[in-house]
Amino acid sequence: MKKNKKIAVLPGDGIGPEVMKEALKVLEKVKKKYGLDFELKFGDIGGIAIDKYDHPLPEQTKNLCLNSVAVLLGSIGGPKWDNYPPEKNPEIGGLLGLRKLLNLYVNLRPVVLYERLKENSPLSEKITESDIDIITVRELSQGIYFSKPKNLTDNEGYDTMRYDRQTVNRIAKSGFEIAKSRRRKITSVDKANVLYSSKLWRKTVSEISKNYPEVELTHMYVDNAAMQLILNPSQFDVILTTNLFGDILSDESAAISGSLGMIPSASFGKGNINLYEPAGGSAPDIAGKGIANPVAQILSLAMMLEYSFGLKEAANDVREAVKKTVNEGYGTIDIVKNKKYVLSTSEMGDSIAEKI
Ligand code: IPM
Ligand code: MN
Repeated sequence: MKKNKKIAVLPGDGIGPEVMKEALKVLEKVKKKYGLDFELKFGDIGGIAIDKYDHPLPEQTKNLCLNSVAVLLGSIGGPKWDNYPPEKNPEIGGLLGLRKLLNLYVNLRPVVLYERLKENSPLSEKITESDIDIITVRELSQGIYFSKPKNLTDNEGYDTMRYDRQTVNRIAKSGFEIAKSRRRKITSVDKANVLYSSKLWRKTVSEISKNYPEVELTHMYVDNAAMQLILNPSQFDVILTTNLFGDILSDESAAISGSLGMIPSASFGKGNINLYEPAGGSAPDIAGKGIANPVAQILSLAMMLEYSFGLKEAANDVREAVKKTVNEGYGTIDIVKNKKYVLSTSEMGDSIAEKI
């Protein structure tokens, strides 16, 4: 295990604090079982930081993150802060600001459909018969999210979608490396029939693929990919794609898993500080009710244990505990229909922690 054990914990807004509490409960159990020690430091990001410090990513939070090995984030944003100017809103000033600060460029979003949740998936039984195990490798540093010029006036709003070769190179390498450790199939998703940035993307990914002859590469247009995910999700192993398309397709694939509350994410960059957060949002409509699904946060913790601290066994313990709880039929209201088996957020956390 790495020597530096500093974790920046940023619960954020909406359901963030509730689900974070459960992840930390699970971390406590992992610490006990393996005799580990972590240094947890709490900070504010997003709306709560705006309310307290008038900025979604205040200096003290930046420093806290820069002095840690890993950032465990809850979720950010809510209707209260929706009309703030871009640089000062939770999403752009907060989360995108943090991704930029940490130079994060790879975002991994793994989606697995558990046996028990097959009935929850919006897809028909026939389609979910085969296993669904997909990971989206989303480019996180460029594309339409960050490229200039972009502007908003009373009369128009515009963004630029730009990719440079170096950026596509490095994300493609990450994608192929991940594919190598899985089923060795990669689908690169773009819109190369229309967009120049996608033409460069496709050409560059094809070039990189020459170094990975063991990985099977398919190119797919994003509109077709959106359709294929619904018609035949089992065909996908690794989906390698741009910032915007990855944002959209990862939500779509998350829905296939039965609930957006099930999907974790990890982001890596040039530096050594990684970010771990649920792929879903802050769900302000259910915040504070004790019904949010803590699984995405708990599985984000598992990714942190594995990738930032090299604790693969502990990470797998956490994943197994989640899987057991879910396959026993228990879960929060988003994944369980039978009232007898519905657990609150904290009961779900207990049930998972108990199994470690
Ligand atoms: C995500 C979110 C963010 C994104 C928002 C909140 C900025 O939707 O992580 O998927 O668009 O990247
Ligand atoms: Mn999103």
